[in-house]
Amino acid sequence: MSSYHFFTNYYDHIVRWTGYSLKDEVDMIDEFIKEYLDKDEKVSILEVACWTWVVARELLKRWYDIVWIDISEDMLQKAIDNIWRSRCELADMRDFNLNRNFDVVLCNYNSICHLISLKDWRKFFLQVYNHLNEWGIFIFDINTVYEFESITRDFKQFFTFKDVDNDSREDVVCLEMFKKERNMNNDIILSQKEKEYYYEWLIKMFVHADDGRYDLVIETIAENSFEISEIKKELESFWFKLLHLEDFHRWHVDEESERVYFVTRKV
Ligand SMILES: C[S@@+](CC[C@H](N)C(=O)[O-])C[C@H]1O[C@@H](n2cnc3c(N)ncnc32)[C@H](O)[C@@H]1O
Repeated sequence: MSSYHFFTNYYDHIVRWTGYSLKDEVDMIDEFIKEYLDKDEKVSILEVACWTWVVARELLKRWYDIVWIDISEDMLQKAIDNIWRSRCELADMRDFNLNRNFDVVLCNYNSICHLISLKDWRKFFLQVYNHLNEWGIFIFDINTVYEFESITRDFKQFFTFKDVDNDSREDVVCLEMFKKERNMNNDIILSQKEKEYYYEWLIKMFVHADDGRYDLVIETIAENSFEISEIKKELESFWFKLLHLEDFHRWHVDEESERVYFVTRKV
């Protein structure tokens, strides 16, 4: 499985501060919880695949009791503070056991799409089910198939990062995405609809060196998505009731939605 390494140096800026307001996103998650979870006491949240825990930090400020997991060791490295360290755990979302249950499980910013096969999505749904209190809610968002198809058709982004100590030196990051064939030989195909391809970010980082030259660092991140109707069916088979679907950009979900939030309840 591909993972973020050197790109972590640029991730927050590119993903979190260029496109839209983090506050809007946290407000929306906060509203979902208030609307769909009927609880007066402090609400406990497990954030899965939290990475830079910017969302978790904001939720902590809003009086939630939150712990988080991620598969990336770089994430744990960042949790140098003891308070944070005690709240985070290195774990694979397909297979973990925290020995406690939560009111809410949150998997934000298309993190679920980092699982390539439907088989892995199912493993994750089972873990979520096992870690939720009865009537607890599970919130996650996806990049839709429509979004991945659009990005792979015509998309290339460049970002420049100036050296804080020397304005004339900068790093350049180029993002592209390609559609890839999956090697199905080792996979058990559980659904005829399961796709035989996935999408892969190609991240090229031109990093300035002291002698004025550039080092090229390349990383790839694989992602995948499935049709909303198929995801809904899978959720139902794990006893999750779909409460709400929301297009992050436009509210109304339709075939051109790019990023869609699912709010579901364990029943
Ligand atoms: C898009 S980033 C997460 C962003 C974060 N949730 C946010 O809202 O800013 C995707 C994250 O998924 C994590 N990840 C990928 N595969 C994982 C797995 N199998 N188990 C746990 N975390 C995983 C990556 O390490 C990365 O931190």
